[in-house]
Amino acid sequence: MDDKALIREALEARKMSYSPYSGFMVGAALLAKNGKIYRGCNIESSSYSPTNCAERTAFFKAISEGVHEFTAIAVVGAHCDAKPEEFGYAYPCGVCRQVMMEFCDPKEFRILTAKSEDEYTSYTLRELLPNGFGPNDLNQQA
Ligand code: THU
Repeated sequence: MDDKALIREALEARKMSYSPYSGFMVGAALLAKNGKIYRGCNIESSSYSPTNCAERTAFFKAISEGVHEFTAIAVVGAHCDAKPEEFGYAYPCGVCRQVMMEFCDPKEFRILTAKSEDEYTSYTLRELLPNGFGPNDLNQQA
């Protein structure tokens, strides 16, 4: 699976966004090591705080099916009135980065933030969450 194909999946996922309150539509496509892709969109709530980001939707779909190993995620976010290719990049929020930290190797896992399949950034999780706290840190001796 190349980057462009994963971004196309995120663009498709964005179409499913349920975002009547912010109007900000986000799609994500999470590539598992087994080759499967899990799409996610943001899902908002009239009471606001239950809102779930597109990235976490994708992760939770995969985890709920027993898949725990991942290679990369592509994210596309733009206001509903805008074209993603004319909007700024939408990087994962801090909560989503922490969820990624739970399941992904920060040195290996790649986060693609895209405007289109030709215009995107690529960072490792370690770059977007330096010195992140993960499952291994619970076992460390001081
Ligand atoms: N959102 C995401 O889905 N992913 C992000 O990384 C940033 C924000 C959503 C949450 C909310 O539905 C809308 O974008 C505005 O914050």
